[in-house]
Amino acid sequence: MAEGIQKVGVLGCGLMGSGIAQIAATAGYATVVKEVSEDFLKKGIAGIEQSLGKFVDKGTLTRQQRSETLGRLKGTTDFEELRDCDIVIEAITENLQTKRETFTTIDRIVKPAAIFASNTSSLVITEMMTATRRVDRFIGMHFFNPVPLMKLVEVVGTITTSPQVLEQAMQFAASLGKVPIRTSDRSGFIVNRLLVPYLLDAIRALEEGVGNVEDIDKGMKLGCGYPMGPFTLLDFVGLETTYYIANIMFEEFREKRFAPPPLLKRLVLAGHHGKKTGRGFYDYSDAANPKPLF
Ligand code: 3HC
Repeated sequence: MAEGIQKVGVLGCGLMGSGIAQIAATAGYATVVKEVSEDFLKKGIAGIEQSLGKFVDKGTLTRQQRSETLGRLKGTTDFEELRDCDIVIEAITENLQTKRETFTTIDRIVKPAAIFASNTSSLVITEMMTATRRVDRFIGMHFFNPVPLMKLVEVVGTITTSPQVLEQAMQFAASLGKVPIRTSDRSGFIVNRLLVPYLLDAIRALEEGVGNVEDIDKGMKLGCGYPMGPFTLLDFVGLETTYYIANIMFEEFREKRFAPPPLLKRLVLAGHHGKKTGRGFYDYSDAANPKPLF
């Protein structure tokens, strides 16, 4: 466990928040995860139970470790439960105003010594930090989907983050079994700065008739050894998420490579958000055999 960190708070129990809460509890931390409603909380905790079950099936976690992990995890809808956390990681909806309001609320409640971290994928950390009074103790901690499997965490410092806090966050990420890398507060950090233009370029290549979805995916999987082709990854991340991130990055840098292509916008407008809605670049009616649509 990282020095000075015993209790972890997580805001949001969706895809990313539930994963972060799961790995914190697995690593031995007392963990509180806060959601806006009991329904969302239930769904998130059920996802954690399912994921821990997969590790038990695989033999990398015992049944006892699974129940101890769940014993360290507390779900709540009350901000007050975060009061004595040593670090609070925010993984709520990617909306700057909502995030700022949430940070202002917890800044009044959580002890002043606690570190605040945002798991945002593209928003500017400094813009959330200014909604609090702890400008030296505010960082980005960007995890990757699926959190229990992906090894990387991007640790983001702002111009006011204290070096000790950054060091503590690096140690904390390592204690979760992750490999931390350091990056500065630029929209998209390291990974999305490189990944997002690549994903958008795959859509442009499709639009220009360079290849179909299946062949472009096969090309990158078999030609470059990527675990998923760009369209499988786009559907996995979520098309509305990618569209949102691309727009924020385009706004920050005003560079064409971050501009979302028209087809992406049309799919998002039509509600075809990828795997989660059953349709994106592939049709997931038969989950074991997704059918390419373009
Ligand atoms: N919890 C526990 N176990 C899980 C799991 C979860 N959430 N999800 C999958 N698994 C297990 C499966 O049960 C399976 O176990 P087995 O080997 O015993 O059968 C194993 O992991 C492998 O899963 P699959 O067979 O379903 O599929 P893959 O072999 O393709 O692995 C993957 C899945 C690890 C997701 C791999 O495809 C991969 O690395 N894909 C790329 C993911 C990626 O790029 N993520 C980053 C997205 S970008 C991002 O997050 C940034 C954001 O800001 C947008």
